[in-house]
Amino acid sequence: MKKVTIATLAKAKVNQQPISMVTAYDATMARIADDAGVDSILVGDSLGMVVGGQANTLEVRLEDVVYHCRAVRRGAPRPFLVADMPFMTYQASVSDAVRNAGVLIAEGRAEAVKLEGGVDVAPQVSAIRAAGIPVVGHVGLTPQSVHAMGGFKVQGRGVHGADQVLCDAQAIVDAGACMVVLEGVPQELAQRVTQTLAVPTIGIGAGVGCDGQVLVCTDLLGMNPDFKPRFVRHFMDGYAQMRQAFEGYVEAVQGRDFPSESESFSSPNPGDRPAVGGKITRLY
Ligand code: KIV
Repeated sequence: MKKVTIATLAKAKVNQQPISMVTAYDATMARIADDAGVDSILVGDSLGMVVGGQANTLEVRLEDVVYHCRAVRRGAPRPFLVADMPFMTYQASVSDAVRNAGVLIAEGRAEAVKLEGGVDVAPQVSAIRAAGIPVVGHVGLTPQSVHAMGGFKVQGRGVHGADQVLCDAQAIVDAGACMVVLEGVPQELAQRVTQTLAVPTIGIGAGVGCDGQVLVCTDLLGMNPDFKPRFVRHFMDGYAQMRQAFEGYVEAVQGRDFPSESESFSSPNPGDRPAVGGKITRLY
């Protein structure tokens, strides 16, 4: 499979070829996603909730995303790699935004950065883009504004709300965004935004009318039985299957069924021992 670039994704919109994006936070998961053919991987700040067990995304730091992004890049060289800009790494000033975006590209080895917001962050989008860094926007339900929204709530309902989302999306595209994530908005609005914008839209909780879809990897794998909002589909019952595997392991250890003879090493034959000054024989 060919390397996915920003040009591949732009062409996919033109050819009406749906784009698949998933989040990943480590090399093992990223490798599976790459082998499965996903177009793009997002090292989202959902990291804080999925990996860190935090209540929201606000505690995630730039160095956390850098560390996980490097791991994901090692596991998945082919998909287009996007790194989330954490809360307060771009809101306070345009110069912060450019510097921190640069860190995610140079140290995190991402190919683009994603930030949340519309009209208010257009200057940041424009300056990061001017530094030669592709920017993905994120409008609608923006989790870093959880307190301002009064919770994780669908946005863009009603004429005023819908116009605001459209206006925000257009503002960041005019500022140079190469892609826009639409989260938690009515499907009719997502379709209207998708038809209006010249760049691909990637939906999550935004219906089928977007140019692509993104899901958090542990959600699509069904690993958290307590989290099944309407927009998530479990493509496997990861919790049940993984729990069963752990239970099998515990039982095998307790029953002295694991490790078996063939899973154990024996003392090497005297003939395998390295002669003095000779080569060390590898035992495993
Ligand atoms: O942080 C994240 O995982 C995201 C996606 C849900 C779009 O921003």
